[in-house]
Amino acid sequence: MADNRCPMTLPTERTHLFDPPAEYKRLRETDPMTRLSFPDGTLGWLATRQEDVRAVLSDPRFSTYLARHSSPVRATPPEERGELPPGTFTSLDGPEHAHYRRMLTGLFTVRRMRQLTPRIEEITKGRLDAMEQAGENVDLVKEFAHPVAALVICELLGVSYDDREYLQEVSEVIMSAELPTTEIAVVAGGLYSYLLDVVRAKSAQPADDIISGLVTGDNGLTDEEVVGMAVLLLLAGYDATANMLGLGTLALLLNPDQLEPLRGDDQAAQDNLVEELLRYLTTVHLGTIRGAKEDLELGGKLVRKGEIVVGALAAANRDPRYYTDPDRLDVTRERPSHLAFGHGPHLCLGQQLARLVLRVGYRELFRRFPDLRLAVSPESVKTLDDRVMYGVYALPVSWSKQPVPAGAAGE
Ligand code: HEM
Repeated sequence: MADNRCPMTLPTERTHLFDPPAEYKRLRETDPMTRLSFPDGTLGWLATRQEDVRAVLSDPRFSTYLARHSSPVRATPPEERGELPPGTFTSLDGPEHAHYRRMLTGLFTVRRMRQLTPRIEEITKGRLDAMEQAGENVDLVKEFAHPVAALVICELLGVSYDDREYLQEVSEVIMSAELPTTEIAVVAGGLYSYLLDVVRAKSAQPADDIISGLVTGDNGLTDEEVVGMAVLLLLAGYDATANMLGLGTLALLLNPDQLEPLRGDDQAAQDNLVEELLRYLTTVHLGTIRGAKEDLELGGKLVRKGEIVVGALAAANRDPRYYTDPDRLDVTRERPSHLAFGHGPHLCLGQQLARLVLRVGYRELFRRFPDLRLAVSPESVKTLDDRVMYGVYALPVSWSKQPVPAGAAGE
């Protein structure tokens, strides 16, 4: 069981826009539970096989709380390892985690998402109108992916859409994997006080949104806890959705043979397309982290109590034991089960919302602009390697104006 090889740091270098670092493939086949060196000098593990990653995320002997100050790419100095703000339930375990999570699950059900569909369609079409008016050459990330994601999350939480630029800026800083933790803490502090004002305003004058529901509900939550929960939803929901809209569109533009489901009305085929893009792109590219609560065995290795394990979602989602030809984007795969939304008790709370926004977003985009194309070379598209979520900074696209049908002029 002992492993004396020199430990590696998390592989992050990509050789292909959509493929995880090549090193993952080698590890998955030859050393699937490998020793990993963390930036704070501690030694942990990297799991790359889907079976092991599922185990890390679902075995109650693994804790998110123990891993709350760990990152495979950035060290948090001991003096900055303060307690978590109240309501930060994603870093809690067991009953404490469930206490907060169950107050939100009812707000993200498939049924509730069905009710939201017309509003999401309206938001999406509104942004496409704006894009069309802006010209025949735009940055799709700026004009479509970010505004759609921001509008949806602001609407859901009940936060003013006028503040979207501020929210976008803070989310970029907080989700950065490289900026110093002190800088992030200052920006996060600003976001907490901004949301505290929103929470107090909603207590005085509630509306039909998540923050109002939480502050007026009979749940014993303090304003500070509601703020903590709102911060999580905002950060988790906004960035992840925007990045999947941008990167997913790029993947479709570079694989035009995969666009067929978006041309028809077969919702099941469109659902498959979204699922396959989630699997293939796995935007939570740095993986998920957990700490071992006791000595345990995983993938044939002894993980000691307190050691941190990174579950490489991107490697697990390309595991040939689970998928035929895993490195191929194939939107006809039957609803591939994947780990892009995680697994176990912390499985993404917003997954149904994300699926809905992505299905409507890709469908309406390619309906409105059937000849949408990339306006630059794929090599010049800059990727978000330095962020917790993978994606593209900008996506310059163009299209041809459709001729106005005869007789429609002047309508
Ligand atoms: C394509 C979009 C999205 C992706 C790829 C994604 C991915 C993930 C992943 C991988 C996790 C698990 C993290 C872990 O186990 O450590 C997660 C958790 C979470 N996600 Fe998402 N997410 C997306 C959209 C959303 C949206 C739209 C929301 C809400 C509005 C959301 C809210 C959350 C929350 C609150 C958690 C923590 C759940 C818990 O700890 O119980 N996500 N997400």
